[in-house]
Amino acid sequence: MTPEMVVNRINDAMKIANDVLQRHAAAVICTVPSLCAFCQPHLALKSLKSSVFSISSYLFCLAFAPPTMSLKNAVITGANRGLGLELCRQLSLDERYQTIYALCRKTSPELTELASKNQKIGIVDGVNVTDNGVGIKLGSFFRTDTTDEPIIPIHLLIHNAGAYGPPKDCVDAQAMYASQSLETITRERMRFALELNTLAPLFVTQALLPNLQATGKVIIISSLMGSIRDNTAGAHYGYRTAKAAANMVGKTLAMDLKSPERQIAVGMIHPGFVATGFDGGKKRREGQRDVDVCVKGVLQAVDQVTLETTGCFLHGGYGEGVRPLDW
Ligand SMILES: NC(=O)c1ccc[n+]([C@@H]2O[C@H](COP(=O)([O-])OP(=O)(O)OC[C@H]3O[C@@H](n4cnc5c(N)ncnc54)[C@H](OP(=O)(O)O)[C@@H]3O)[C@@H](O)[C@H]2O)c1
Repeated sequence: MTPEMVVNRINDAMKIANDVLQRHAAAVICTVPSLCAFCQPHLALKSLKSSVFSISSYLFCLAFAPPTMSLKNAVITGANRGLGLELCRQLSLDERYQTIYALCRKTSPELTELASKNQKIGIVDGVNVTDNGVGIKLGSFFRTDTTDEPIIPIHLLIHNAGAYGPPKDCVDAQAMYASQSLETITRERMRFALELNTLAPLFVTQALLPNLQATGKVIIISSLMGSIRDNTAGAHYGYRTAKAAANMVGKTLAMDLKSPERQIAVGMIHPGFVATGFDGGKKRREGQRDVDVCVKGVLQAVDQVTLETTGCFLHGGYGEGVRPLDW
């Protein structure tokens, strides 16, 4: 190892130590610090900080230890079921992430069970992304609204919460689709789709802007149904319009957030045709793919969202190859 490499490793270690301290101070979900990846170094540092020699030893260890410690935090909206739940599960297996904040209106038995078995996942319930007060709720949880404590840093924000239309339209796929034809679409249904699929990603991003870290990512789970070029079949007024507009929100965020001060990449990702409760029906429909392969593809696409590709619209490709989509 050259002297330059040693200096670089020590610099990295200083950043890590700082990040660990910040994160620990802000953490509210850690129940077993002795087993927790980010509490351990904090506790070590705390017990060592009275001695300069000990701090140097600690930094020395961090500098020369294999770089296994992951320090990224992910936030996922609509995490109690469907794609959001599986995103939590798969991200928790990714060693780059140490905390997955599972945002939901109300937890589900599945999410509660997942979080009980996996300390990386922290449930943040009571988060209705269309609520006017969502910014206050998030600001309070993620410490955006206080200078007394460090904010919780966010490295990956996935806007997953979404729906085709109001729940009462979704008793099954047929009823759902029938509710947004030229003859049946209403202002109320248009507004519902736009509030949830378009406005929520914008205002949740706005609320969490102070938390988003440089080189972090903002992802909008979009849909091919929002592609103007792909629209050869008509209908679905609310959902199509809302996802197309969500793509514009995402592209505009990409332009605003790629600045040297922010360095945040933004991507819109179509997960494919997924067997979730999305269409209101419990019965699996022809062509629907398993949630786990769809999420595998989504996360592969997330890895392709960088400052070089920012503003992209990608198909996760079911884990068989990410590909760009036409707007
Ligand atoms: N499934 C597909 O084939 C498909 C295809 C393309 C794109 N997508 C997109 O993928 C995303 C996830 O869909 P999915 O298939 O997983 O659907 P899903 O199983 O119906 O899950 C939707 C999630 O969104 C949450 N949600 C709805 N309204 C919310 C609100 N106001 N505040 C907070 N959370 C809210 C739901 O929470 P509650 O339990 O509280 O309702 C649920 O967790 C959506 O954006 C959808 O448009 C899905």
